Amino acid sequence: MKYQFPEAFWWGSASSALQTEGESQPDARGETTWDRWYQQQPTRFHQQVGPQDTSTFYQHWREDIALLKQLNHNSFRTSISWSRLIPDGTGEVNPQAVAFYNNVIDELLAQGIKPFITLFHFDMPLVMQQQGGWESRAVVEAFSRYARLCFELFGDRVLHWFTFNEPIVPVEGGYLYDFHYPNVVDFKRAATAAYHTVLAHAQAVRAFRAGQYPGEIGIVLNLTPSYPRSQHPADVKAAHHADLLFNRSFLDPVLRGEYPADLVALLQSYDQLPACQPGDAELIADGKIDLLGINYYQPRRVKCRDSAVNLQSPFMPEWLFDNYEMPGRKMNPYRGWEIYEPGIYDILTNLRVNYDNPRCFISENGMGVENEQRFNQNGQINDQYRIEFVTGHLKWLHKGISEGSQCLGYHMWTFIDNWSWCNAYKNRYGFVQLDLATQQRTVKKSGEWFARTAVDNGFNEEGDNND
Ligand code: GAL
Repeated sequence: MKYQFPEAFWWGSASSALQTEGESQPDARGETTWDRWYQQQPTRFHQQVGPQDTSTFYQHWREDIALLKQLNHNSFRTSISWSRLIPDGTGEVNPQAVAFYNNVIDELLAQGIKPFITLFHFDMPLVMQQQGGWESRAVVEAFSRYARLCFELFGDRVLHWFTFNEPIVPVEGGYLYDFHYPNVVDFKRAATAAYHTVLAHAQAVRAFRAGQYPGEIGIVLNLTPSYPRSQHPADVKAAHHADLLFNRSFLDPVLRGEYPADLVALLQSYDQLPACQPGDAELIADGKIDLLGINYYQPRRVKCRDSAVNLQSPFMPEWLFDNYEMPGRKMNPYRGWEIYEPGIYDILTNLRVNYDNPRCFISENGMGVENEQRFNQNGQINDQYRIEFVTGHLKWLHKGISEGSQCLGYHMWTFIDNWSWCNAYKNRYGFVQLDLATQQRTVKKSGEWFARTAVDNGFNEEGDNND
């Protein structure tokens, strides 16, 4: 076998609470910002399908875990819903939620699947948002209590914890680019929310270390390597700025325990720095992780700006660069994202060379495709493009490992087609097809391929497992 992966490599997939649980018992969880936004602006969601209508994992967890087993997963990441566990964010623990997550964790373990648990995957309890969300230090405190409760309730069995999934996304969506609630456009508020998220992460890591829970704690970051259009200094500088803002704003605090000096100087020069308090630097230093989850979907290509900035406009990251469309780039047209497989290798190399080669794994990678029904053959989706997408990325990941990267696994987004934030069910990502009307699950071709690959711990040049 040409692409053989290390022993005990994690093969699995990722999902999240809000995107899968579904609202089978409306009284069982508190509202999140998604529920509120949907009530206020349903047209912001594809075909007006809101967060209530997700893939019923709350009822079907046992059958769904049986499917995970059928796909030969040895690990699976999902998140705990803060608003299900503690409906008002800070008060009483909901016993139904404890029972549900205990069931899920116990069943995963019974099937030989390691539970990887995220504490926050975009689903802010509404009451916490009403207190300022990540702009408020009180919410940071509330999050660390929630994290501690999770460690106490489930930490005897969960050995892989992640404080946040893609913490920069709610910052970008909620405070810069208008694709998450509260739909603010204000860089300084974005910087404050990002800063407090790092503090919340660090508080949770502190609580984890203080409690001496078994296992390890990390974070999941969406890393988008920044490629300059050319080696012209102006393009290189543009890429450096994009890298500071979109990658290193979270990567450096969690791996090095501090912010890059360049980033601090950059924000200072535009008067966009958030307020700090005494003790923050020590707290951030304590937030260093054991394990980094890497979500990789697309690269970021940039060039220097072609035009002068309108100084009357709100300060935005795009004051510092223009996005660059590389001629001939390979695209996923449904999601509008470039597909660039070597990016995964570049991320691993950067981590190995510049960050002391941390323990890491690919925690999400995937391809959303619209109208997958057209690929239906004899009742099964024949998603050869997804198999090619995964093999393409795994080959570069394999190269990274062969050069010494400590990449311990590969998780696909996602397991069963699920609800995406504003896109609802527009693009399908799963190894398993979901029939929305009947909730029936049918394994796609890619799911069968993945099951074989996981068992063989690799594949040959053509991407198949025949030798
Ligand atoms: C990621 C996110 C997931 C999922 C995925 C595909 O950014 O973590 O929740 O939605 O994108 O769209």
